[in-house]
Amino acid sequence: MLDTAAHFKDKRVLITGGLGLIGSNLARKLVELGAEVLLVDSLIPEYGGNLFNITGIEDKVHVNISDVRDEHSMSYLVQGQTYLFNLAGQTSHMDSMQDPYVDLEINCRAQLSILETCRKYNPDIKVVFASTRQIYGKPQYLPVDEKHVLRPVDFNGINKMAGERYHILYNNIYGIRASALRLTNTFGPRMRVKDARQMFLGIWIRLLIEGKPIQVYGDGTQIRDFNYVDDVVEAFLLAAASEKANGEVFNLGADNPICLRDFAKLLVELDGRAEYCLVPFPFDRKAIDIGDYYADYSKIRSILGWVPKVQLRDGLIRTLAYYQQYRDKYWEAGE
Ligand SMILES: NC(=O)c1ccc[n+]([C@@H]2O[C@H](COP(=O)([O-])OP(=O)(O)OC[C@H]3O[C@@H](n4cnc5c(N)ncnc54)[C@H](O)[C@@H]3O)[C@@H](O)[C@H]2O)c1
Repeated sequence: MLDTAAHFKDKRVLITGGLGLIGSNLARKLVELGAEVLLVDSLIPEYGGNLFNITGIEDKVHVNISDVRDEHSMSYLVQGQTYLFNLAGQTSHMDSMQDPYVDLEINCRAQLSILETCRKYNPDIKVVFASTRQIYGKPQYLPVDEKHVLRPVDFNGINKMAGERYHILYNNIYGIRASALRLTNTFGPRMRVKDARQMFLGIWIRLLIEGKPIQVYGDGTQIRDFNYVDDVVEAFLLAAASEKANGEVFNLGADNPICLRDFAKLLVELDGRAEYCLVPFPFDRKAIDIGDYYADYSKIRSILGWVPKVQLRDGLIRTLAYYQQYRDKYWEAGE
């Protein structure tokens, strides 16, 4: 596997969405590798950004509280950067159904304008975009590889799909080197756990820490794959460091997909206190559910040498320990 360390030392790196789960963990790694890191994040309260996520590195990174929809800010901020990790996003599928225009503005239009600012002010920048498995929609076959048809089932999936395609278009037409990682469920310390807005695991973790039962929708037989955030960070670094990634999209994934009921059982076992229960699938969630999903990640394994290293159990143990320690930084008691 490519040794990424040397690529980032003294390099200027911009991370949009840098105060969120993946962005802040990526920032920590890049600081460790000696990069000069600039984080851009809007800190919209309903989204995943949290200043506590950069505790310990706050004096080693620059933070700019801006919205990626602001073209004037972005045209200034991309200048002089060697790498752009483009992670800012509206990530709630349910919110995208309630307010499709905001999702469109952030996940689609802002992506186009970020790329336009790169074209005008920094065409040598190299970009890695955080795409999503959601763009495949309901899988036609499993595991899902990158050749699978794209048929998103919600506004978020449609807008992220367009955002991803803009990146590849700018790579192909304008030579702005860009690649996209189609992420599956990513979890770990620094994820938003306040409510059910983001991935179900966020609210499950909060309920576990509060000693309350976690709710599994339907019969819990839907299959999913999960990546621990450190593995996802590694994939971003590899994609940025390798010229082989240019113009490519890559699935991330894991070796042991698991159904949600077994996943809930595992969490309950690790926590040792709480329990889970099966509840009817809410209609509005069922309408955009994709059924079973797990990815074929052999493309990124063969081209960039990426494999996930952290086992689900270990990742969950680390995550639960983190929120037991820092719960007050992620939600207020009685909230
Ligand atoms: N975590 C997952 O399971 C997962 C799965 C698929 C794709 N992704 C993608 O990965 C990226 C990062 O996800 P994450 O899990 O770290 O989520 P996150 O919500 O923790 O981080 C996203 C960050 O983007 C910021 N942001 C949102 N809108 C913004 C705007 N208009 N301007 C500036 N900043 C803005 C938020 O404040 C937040 O800090 C997202 O684009 C998401 O779509 C994540």
